[in-house]
Amino acid sequence: MEKLPRHIAFIMDGNGRWAKKRLLPRKAGHRQGVKALEKVVDACEKRGVEMVTFYAFSTENWARPQDEIDALFDMVAEFADTRLKEYVARGLRIMFIGDLTALPEKTRAACARIVDAAKDNKGMIVNIALNYGGRDEILRAVKIIVDSGVKEVDLDTLSDCMYTGGLPDPDVIVRSSGEKRLSNFMLWQAAYSEFVFLDELWPDFDEKTVDAVLLEYSKRDRRYGSVKRLN
Ligand code: FPP
Repeated sequence: MEKLPRHIAFIMDGNGRWAKKRLLPRKAGHRQGVKALEKVVDACEKRGVEMVTFYAFSTENWARPQDEIDALFDMVAEFADTRLKEYVARGLRIMFIGDLTALPEKTRAACARIVDAAKDNKGMIVNIALNYGGRDEILRAVKIIVDSGVKEVDLDTLSDCMYTGGLPDPDVIVRSSGEKRLSNFMLWQAAYSEFVFLDELWPDFDEKTVDAVLLEYSKRDRRYGSVKRLN
């Protein structure tokens, strides 16, 4: 691949519709969504991507039925204790972005354990957004700066105070299920991201989808506001 993105971020959408099509409860769609996430992680790692981010729970998702919220956080806790442990064993780095203080204690503890276990790893970063909102993240960064008393603020100061401070912005943001919006996801980091919108529902994502994204990305001409280079 001529141009490989360093960081791919995924807005995982369409789990509910995937389940509905099969007359299954929404939870079943999320469970299948976790399997898709695993396939995507494996494919990205194999192809040499440095970082993958998954939007798993937004600050707006608290408006969902309580049993769906409970099921999602149970799934995250189980995922941390099982698959994420395997990722750690094979050298991947794990991080979470968002306000984890609002999560159920079991989930929070499982996330904290796995981040700690992975802290010396050097492999691909698997970043999971939980109770994450892009506007909240920017507000949080501003508060950190105000509280620090720093008077000279530039773009780097602000960037460093984001959850992703020091890490590459997503080169490409992928959204499944035909929706074409950001939904409060990585608003700061998306400044120069390429967008790939696919009709496929998230639970159907696999290695082939990753290759389709990589191919599409390799065709994009990123100019960052400059002019096309002829060489
Ligand atoms: C959006 O689809 C999906 C979510 C809000 C949740 C995504 C979460 C997962 C895939 C599981 C995360 C778990 C781990 C372990 C990281 P939707 O439910 O809004 O689908 P719909 O628009 O078709 O109803």
